[in-house]
Amino acid sequence: MKPLPQRPDPARAAAEFDRWALAGRAERMADGHLPGTQAAIQDWLLDGDSAVLDVGCGNGWALRLLIERGAGWGMGVDVSAEMVSRARAFAAGDARQRFEVAEASSLPLEDGVLTHILSVESLYYQPDPAASLAEWARVAAPGARLGLMIDLYLENPGSHAWVSALDVDVHLLSTAGLVAMARAAGWRQVQARQVVDPRPLTAPDAHKASPFWPSYADYLRYREAGSLVVVATR
Ligand SMILES: C[S@@+](CC[C@H](N)C(=O)[O-])C[C@H]1O[C@@H](n2cnc3c(N)ncnc32)[C@H](O)[C@@H]1O
Repeated sequence: MKPLPQRPDPARAAAEFDRWALAGRAERMADGHLPGTQAAIQDWLLDGDSAVLDVGCGNGWALRLLIERGAGWGMGVDVSAEMVSRARAFAAGDARQRFEVAEASSLPLEDGVLTHILSVESLYYQPDPAASLAEWARVAAPGARLGLMIDLYLENPGSHAWVSALDVDVHLLSTAGLVAMARAAGWRQVQARQVVDPRPLTAPDAHKASPFWPSYADYLRYREAGSLVVVATR
């Protein structure tokens, strides 16, 4: 039996997500994470002066989306060197995109340089989410926008099996706890909502039981709760 969850360890997360990247799992994440990500960035106005950051960027798909939507420059950071390597390969010499191996609470950026910060399905893997949010506040310019989404959280009981199914330790964050953390880190106008994926459900007879969704009822609960999306302003 897996021991009780510990504080997440960035070295273990890096090794695990290196394995995901090498197994081709990075490219499969964008589809599932898209509705929550779109909700997190829906009112962002991006132009050539926008400098964006994607924390826990995986293969960089969300940063590419922000560049396509008009951002002039963007950085993606991730603890997994293999994820960063895939992101750099996709960027293929586009000078508007930069990817670095970095931990979410220690960014290779000067104070106040970013206009928009995004983090998709990464915060609960990070050792100290409050420290991450404070670091993101440090690199945000006055008025900068924050958008983050997570699918594993307290009010989504259909995701709780992931805590033991994942091969790394994670935090089970609550909506109220996350909002309080963001405020304490210096973010203002913090708002949280649950965003349901409007796409059709998998049919009951197509459901394959797994450690992540042991039963179809778990999968249904997961889809009914949706993604937790938190937006804020610096
Ligand atoms: C579930 S994946 C999501 C990746 C990407 N955002 C996406 O939607 O495809 C979580 C990512 O967070 C990264 N990560 C985990 N802990 C991290 C940390 N402490 N600092 C930076 N990145 C981290 C992982 O390496 C992984 O690429």
